[in-house]
Amino acid sequence: MEKLVIKGPTPLKGEVTISGAKNAAVAILPATLLIDGTCTIENLPNISDIKISCEILEHLGAKITWNSEHSITIDTSNITTTKAPLDLTSKFRASYYIIGAMLGRKGEIEVGMPGGCKLGARPIDQHIKGFETLGANVSVEKGKIYAKAKKLKGAPIYMDIVSVGATINVMLASVLAKGTTTIDNAAKEPHIVDVANFLNTMGADIRGAGTDVIKINGVEKLHGGSTYSVVPDQIEAGTFMLAAVATRGDLTLKNCITKHLESITAKIIEVGGNVEDNGDSIRVWCSKRPNKANIKTLPYPGFPTDLQPQMGVVLSLANGTSVINESIWESRFQYTEELNKMGARITAQGKTAFFEGVKKLYGAPVYSSDLRAGAALVVAGTAAEGITEVYNLEHIDRGYENIEEKFRKLGAKIERVKE
Ligand code: UD1
Repeated sequence: MEKLVIKGPTPLKGEVTISGAKNAAVAILPATLLIDGTCTIENLPNISDIKISCEILEHLGAKITWNSEHSITIDTSNITTTKAPLDLTSKFRASYYIIGAMLGRKGEIEVGMPGGCKLGARPIDQHIKGFETLGANVSVEKGKIYAKAKKLKGAPIYMDIVSVGATINVMLASVLAKGTTTIDNAAKEPHIVDVANFLNTMGADIRGAGTDVIKINGVEKLHGGSTYSVVPDQIEAGTFMLAAVATRGDLTLKNCITKHLESITAKIIEVGGNVEDNGDSIRVWCSKRPNKANIKTLPYPGFPTDLQPQMGVVLSLANGTSVINESIWESRFQYTEELNKMGARITAQGKTAFFEGVKKLYGAPVYSSDLRAGAALVVAGTAAEGITEVYNLEHIDRGYENIEEKFRKLGAKIERVKE
């Protein structure tokens, strides 16, 4: 078993380069299944979710060449099976994108129910509703999803809930469908725009991604033959911005799109931090105890649920009592029990948590319950006095590239230790 051992407190200082977005990359890789040919993808984050995605694609018949640790060339001319490997698809949530992509390419797929972070109920009814509206038969039996269609036909689809995954999955399924699909009440996250840009680069005709109505005119074929670079990770960037505030440091983030960081920037300013937007880089610093603030997580452009735990660390150290209302996931406050072990005073009740700010956190052994909770504990350990040991690193490694190396370069005293 591995753990991260952090000796704090350290104000993080210096420059950090943001990696490619996990949530875009885990959708772009299955999207390559729609291409009858080859493409090159750059700026892939070097994380375990990407490695597993590549293994799944290889199992389906794709040929992958690694050009560097952040770039692959992938040949999807030959898809040899419509059965996805259960042991791999159960490891992460985004494996469900195989369904939309394979329905589009082969008209058939059998895949296990997706795994991923345990954040409460994670239904996929909107994905299924979308596939069925396009003409597919979908059944869920004994932990497996079977989807089949003769030829998908474009149709208007209204999403009952704003869902990132359902929006992308229906977009994937409709790219090669006959006729036009419109997705109403679509999610608007930056990675949805990125997946649409990737597909358009490869020959698709998708308009309106980034707004709440997306129109997809079906095309005969995606030609491939191009190179695409994944958008910078908005959540990794937000994690470092909040780490700068929590540790009272001074960080400059390179390779980020500051437009994607507006809700986080607004909240950092509200708690008394400073943000300087330099176009493709952003500087965040804070020299005093943060003020209290109230947060409600919302779909983009609202405050992202995936930064809620990291913001929770800042608010646990704030002057006064803050309230976080988590409106997306029902069990996203598991990290608060770990922060309380470090001296925080947080009371979580259902989807609301009250943060009575303390002056200091103290090191303790803590356990990541999910990916973003794990990142929050690393931030807390860097801000806290004494030794923090963070366990369950497999969650963090799914989504953060070399987290300890990036923190160490900014001054943190952090080591990965095998027990
Ligand atoms: C994606 C992100 C995840 C982030 C979440 C919300 C990826 C791989 N993961 O997850 O990190 O926390 O967006 O920003 O991109 N819902 C339904 N029925 C459905 C689909 C969703 O009821 O068919 C509900 C969910 O239970 C949740 C809400 O809709 O309450 C939003 O979920 P969704 O946007 O789909 O999240 P994911 O795509 O799974």
